[in-house]
Amino acid sequence: MNTPPKARPFLGFGLGLRKEHYEAILQGQPTVDWFEILTENYLVEGGKPLHYLERIRADYPIVMHGVSLSIGGTDPLNFDYLHQVKALADRIEPVWISDHLCWTGVDGLNLHDLLPLPYTEEALDHVVHRVGQVQEFLGRRILLENVSSYVSYADSEMSEWEFLAGVAETADCLILLDLNNIYVSARNHGFDPYDYLNHVPEKRVWQFHLAGHFDRGDLLIDTHDRTVIDEVWGLYEAAAVRFGTVSTMIERDDDIPPLEVLMKELNRARRIGEQAMREAA
Ligand SMILES: [Fe+2]
Repeated sequence: MNTPPKARPFLGFGLGLRKEHYEAILQGQPTVDWFEILTENYLVEGGKPLHYLERIRADYPIVMHGVSLSIGGTDPLNFDYLHQVKALADRIEPVWISDHLCWTGVDGLNLHDLLPLPYTEEALDHVVHRVGQVQEFLGRRILLENVSSYVSYADSEMSEWEFLAGVAETADCLILLDLNNIYVSARNHGFDPYDYLNHVPEKRVWQFHLAGHFDRGDLLIDTHDRTVIDEVWGLYEAAAVRFGTVSTMIERDDDIPPLEVLMKELNRARRIGEQAMREAA
């Protein structure tokens, strides 16, 4: 296995790898700098997805993004799952591995949702301890992503960004900052998304996600099934000025359009990102 990098690498502008685009990528070699895979789609030995992934990996850098770690959960960490993640990482040599700052179930029941944590000192200690276990097992630092949320806890003692910063600094892990998730949570809970941005520790942020959401009026839902809205592009521009060269990707999980449609959105990210990152330099 390659030794994971210590300093923040800049991969450029990437896309989530989706099965609808496998053939178009192999045949067209599009100008995408890197791809992010959903880890769980590639854990089955001998499957077709793994076959495609290995062919695409020959031409593009890959990062792994999981949804099953449940780093904030109270069930013991699932080391069977972590063994599978490690085996896949040994095989495809991703630049990094990420998951979410959330919990996904209790008593062995997977709720198939990325649920927010109470932002308490107790939860922070719990997550920090588990991140340490995961990083030791994988032999590398992981990135944790901020999730969208629709509820908050009366018990919370700090803001979400203080909790995220506390986890990253204390556990010595890294951050995947999803700008759409910040915007969705900001609208749902009534905080200023720029306050969030300004309190995230700069050196910890190794990746940005950009995605679309559904606006129900009274509630925003993180659907990843449409284009990025202007307010999120604005937040991205501010983030790129503040954080500098951070690898950026468009995350579309549903209602997947043809690759060329996503390439247009990716090129918008490239234009905004490159300009803002130049300002930051
Ligand atoms: Fe995301």
